[in-house]
Amino acid sequence: MVACVSYLSLFILSLFIVYFVPVQSGGGFSAQLIHRDSPTSPFHNSSETHSQRLTNAFRRSINRLSYINTSRHELQSDVYSDGDIGEYIMNISIGTPPMEILGIADTGSDLIWMQCKPCAHCYKQDAPLFDPKSSSTYEPLSCLSTECKALNATINGTFCPPKAGDSTCLYTYIYGSGFTKGDLATETVTLASVSGKPIAFPKTIIGCGRNNSGGFDKREFGIIGLGGGVVSLVSQLGPSIDGKFSYCLVPISDVPYYSSKIYFGANAIVSGYGVVSTPLVKKNPDTFYLLTLQAISVDDVIIEFKGSSFGTTEGNIIIDSGTTVTMLPKYFYLELESAIASKIQVKRVHDPDKVFSLCYKFNSNFKVPKIVVRFAFASVKLDPLNSFIMITKHVGCFTFLPTDDGRAIYGNLNQMNFWIGYDTVKRTVSFKPTDCTMH
Ligand SMILES: *[C@@H]1O[C@H](CO)[C@@H](O)[C@H](O)[C@H]1NC(C)=O
Ligand SMILES: *[C@@H]1O[C@H](CO)[C@@H](O)[C@H](O)[C@H]1NC(C)=O
Ligand SMILES: *[C@@H]1O[C@H](CO)[C@@H](O)[C@H](O)[C@H]1NC(C)=O
Ligand SMILES: *[C@@H]1O[C@H](CO)[C@@H](O)[C@H](O)[C@H]1NC(C)=O
Ligand SMILES: *[C@@H]1O[C@H](CO)[C@@H](O)[C@H](O)[C@H]1NC(C)=O
Repeated sequence: MVACVSYLSLFILSLFIVYFVPVQSGGGFSAQLIHRDSPTSPFHNSSETHSQRLTNAFRRSINRLSYINTSRHELQSDVYSDGDIGEYIMNISIGTPPMEILGIADTGSDLIWMQCKPCAHCYKQDAPLFDPKSSSTYEPLSCLSTECKALNATINGTFCPPKAGDSTCLYTYIYGSGFTKGDLATETVTLASVSGKPIAFPKTIIGCGRNNSGGFDKREFGIIGLGGGVVSLVSQLGPSIDGKFSYCLVPISDVPYYSSKIYFGANAIVSGYGVVSTPLVKKNPDTFYLLTLQAISVDDVIIEFKGSSFGTTEGNIIIDSGTTVTMLPKYFYLELESAIASKIQVKRVHDPDKVFSLCYKFNSNFKVPKIVVRFAFASVKLDPLNSFIMITKHVGCFTFLPTDDGRAIYGNLNQMNFWIGYDTVKRTVSFKPTDCTMH
């Protein structure tokens, strides 16, 4: 009964409250995940059409491929693309007194960082930069600290001058399309809690970025790394959230627009009717969340997945919230595409933007076949909205794309309207079909 009441009040609350929404059951905390194109996002561009937004999101997915690189350890060149990073923005507070930071919520990287004052080379940022001098809890990490030495192996590199003594531990963190360099520090990170009272997490390791380039937008302060590595927000909150977080992504649509949510701790546990769970596979680097895809079925046809560049069996696909479309190795994509095409009788058309190869003119005869993504121990049945997206009023396209180099990424269109829970202790990812607008 209590649960019913709280769900009802949550629903009513969610209609009116735009930012942090306290969840009334269990412990933990939650925050809004704001899709960059939603009207509540500072990135929202009201002169773009729905189809322009989709085209841009697909372009970003392709750019992001250079980012999802399990062996990115060196700066590749001096030229960094402007491909924006990530699709969801999150709002946390840093420092004392707390300063609000809008960062890209990124399950594909670890470090939490923002641009810092003074800055040797910062990208243009609309809001004032974080000034460590105005925070009483900011403490640079010393070169002598064990963290500085330990992090050398985990983030792309920490650097100290020879005979460094007590000087500040410097870091470099590389993204496919860019990088951030600066000082490592410990600082208080504040998040909203269930009770509505913010919870402060002192001594969280953050990067104070003083040379940042490529793929960053003037409206974002930096990146909130939610990956599996030791410096990510998820790993650092560790025991206080019992290694658990989850999110429920609201389908991209025109109106009405609801924001999505991310949960940490007890209220992140995905349970109840219809939950399926698959093992989270550990590989080096531990940043990426790797699952095992065994097959995808289309009605009665089962297409076996024989692996990707990440592996032939266990841990062969990355689940990522910052990639929009699902990317699959070409050999597999082609089989999947032809299986789907053979089930659909209406006329195929070309995607006017030439991004997708499988598009149809929608009419009353159009019926999406039953597509089931078979992860190890977990079959996830996609809703038509996960597998086809309307790129214009009349044309719908299949939301998967092939990769030439064999990488496999499970993108956010396939995750919409599923409550997806990550348990980094039990090492599972769970899926539950859910109307995320009601969550
Ligand atoms: C961030 O969250 C706080 C409350 O938790 C809210 O007051 C503020 O408006 C939010 N800012 C943005 C830009 O979303
Ligand atoms: C908003 O979208 C329009 C139409 O695509 C584009 O011309 C303009 O540059 C965009 N504005 C920003 C700030 O990105
Ligand atoms: C990944 O990064 C490595 C090393 O930085 C580079 O050699 C390789 O070409 C990159 N792979 C892709 C597919 O971008
Ligand atoms: C920023 O880092 C890049 C890459 O290492 C380097 O080439 C550049 O000189 C640095 N800029 C400044 C102002 O330190
Ligand atoms: C990090 O590792 C590199 C290469 O292994 C080493 O040259 C460097 O001194 C290390 N940095 C620190 C701060 O220990």
